[in-house]
Amino acid sequence: MVSQPVVEVLVTGGAGFIGSNFVLHALASHSNWHITTLDKLTYAGRLDNLRDITDNTRHTFVHGDVTDPTIVEPLVHRANIIVHFAAETHVDRSLRAAGDFITTDVYGSFVLLDAARQADQLHRFIQISTDEVYGSVESGSSVETDEIRPRNPYAASKAGADRLAYSYWATHEVPVVITRASNNYGPRQFPEKVIPLFVTNAIDHQFLPLYGDGLQIRDWLHVNDHCRAIDLLIERGKNGEVYNIGGANEVTNIELANRILTILDRPSSLIKQVSDRPGHDRRYSLDTTKLRSLGWQQEHQFSEGLRTTVEWYQNNDWWWRPIKENDPAYREYYEAQYGKSSE
Ligand code: NAD
Ligand code: DAU
Repeated sequence: MVSQPVVEVLVTGGAGFIGSNFVLHALASHSNWHITTLDKLTYAGRLDNLRDITDNTRHTFVHGDVTDPTIVEPLVHRANIIVHFAAETHVDRSLRAAGDFITTDVYGSFVLLDAARQADQLHRFIQISTDEVYGSVESGSSVETDEIRPRNPYAASKAGADRLAYSYWATHEVPVVITRASNNYGPRQFPEKVIPLFVTNAIDHQFLPLYGDGLQIRDWLHVNDHCRAIDLLIERGKNGEVYNIGGANEVTNIELANRILTILDRPSSLIKQVSDRPGHDRRYSLDTTKLRSLGWQQEHQFSEGLRTTVEWYQNNDWWWRPIKENDPAYREYYEAQYGKSSE
């Protein structure tokens, strides 16, 4: 048997939620890939997320910051593929303090892209953007050519990085493909995001803090379907193009809360309406025709995916209890966001 040449893949933010799911997926799907994960291990990044591959010789972990060119440049210069997930990602935190979002999401993307100008072996740079760059979508669905209208500091930072990545393709021919995915759900999502927050609160008979009237709509995408889409775009995406990745599962937040409570056999009285998020985008909705034309379709229906995700948090409280119960930074954030009386 002729062995295939090794493909060097750099994954930034690979110790976070989507990044870790992508690293595990990619190692299992590509026997000739060697993956280097570069991650700062912020509050959202955890080596526990990669513990299943601790002994895998096809994976190397580098602890470092994407804004540091001395770390980034040698990693970028030997990469064939870069998948850039690393970011500050929580909208509510960006409303409290946006500095880290500008630094990591915008400047960090610049450091990677600028290093990529000199990366002779690079044939794909996947810039992980988000559907939030389109802003609130009152009717219809966003197509990739729509104007972007980000409405919160997180979304604006991601939009800056999205367009910066495009500019490095247009001017320097860095082989950039930009993805804009909808809300992901699945295992190992930090319990500040709505699904793991509501699930773990419901497990413990605590209130589910629902913002405003709860009629905001999000389009839920299983993280494994997202990973398969990125994989496809590495292979078949066209440089300089944007691809929406959506789940075709538009659900209001109040319905989401009720579905979680039903799965866990908890009363709907656990839902507690709290102050709305300032500038809360009412709805996101993606047209995914372009991605589907390359052969992608989702494998996970939301009802089944939500049930298995709830089961994952039930079966893996070793993963989230230490964060929720023992991490002073999480407690501080939770109390500032929801108040002491919220449990
Ligand atoms: P996450 O918050 O779970 O993980 C982010 C990771 O980036 C963490 O491991 C963190 O340690 C790392 N990181 C942060 N700052 C860094 C820095 N300066 N240098 C190196 N590493 C750093 O995020 P996620 O939900 O997995 O999101 C991953 C990417 O996908 C982000 O770019 C996000 O904008 C995008 N995205 C997320 C969703 C979603 O629903 N979660 C949807 C669309 C797009
Ligand atoms: O759409 C993609 C984006 O999805 C990603 O780019 C972001 O990184 C990711 O965090 C996510 O952003 P959202 O703001 O949509 O996700 P979040 O889980 O914070 O909130 C989902 C919805 O639930 C939103 O309408 C706000 C609401 N919500 C959230 C929390 C945390 C509540 O009602 N109560 C809450 O306590």
